Amino acid sequence: EHQYRICVVGPGSVGKSAITIQYLSQQFVSDYDPTIEEYYKNTIYVDNKVAYLEIFDTAGQDEYKSLRSYNFQSGDGFLLIYSVANRKSFEEVLDFQQEILNSKDLNNVPIVLLANKIDLDEKFHVVTKREGVDCASNLGCSFLQTSAKKVINISEAFQECVRLIRKQ
Ligand code: GTP
Ligand code: MG
Repeated sequence: EHQYRICVVGPGSVGKSAITIQYLSQQFVSDYDPTIEEYYKNTIYVDNKVAYLEIFDTAGQDEYKSLRSYNFQSGDGFLLIYSVANRKSFEEVLDFQQEILNSKDLNNVPIVLLANKIDLDEKFHVVTKREGVDCASNLGCSFLQTSAKKVINISEAFQECVRLIRKQ
């Protein structure tokens, strides 16, 4: 009870680990080191109620795909991340949602869609906010614009995920 498993998912290099580490350690990791899988625990309060979080930072790179869907099965909620500077990562969002739904064998799973790296200069933005909002509304999930680097909407993302899980 009050225990929530959150899987951080999405294509390679979109910032899953950077968001997770910023959230848990208040540090921005500027190097890219592809994840195989990492597991963390954290206790927080959301709306004055305790939440014992188990966080799975999953692999975006396709070579780890089988491992990944195994982790998806145990997720109560998901942070699904793309990078606003990478159109391919945005196009893969649908595939990841399908992978989540398949592994859970459900139609409705708590998902927060995160448009990450919004700190980057406008000239590098190739996915608009509008596209992100529309995508989230099609998928029936929440939407936040985030930056692991500038610490924008990082704890909010985890809190929103807990709220969605509680509403289930
Ligand atoms: P995999 O583990 O391979 O799936 O990748 P990942 O999604 O965990 O990506 P990671 O967090 O390792 O970040 C990839 C690169 O993007 C790193 O160089 C990060 O420093 C950078 N990065 C992540 N988040 C942000 C952000 O919000 N802004 C900027 N400017 N760079 C970011
Ligand atoms: Mg990673």
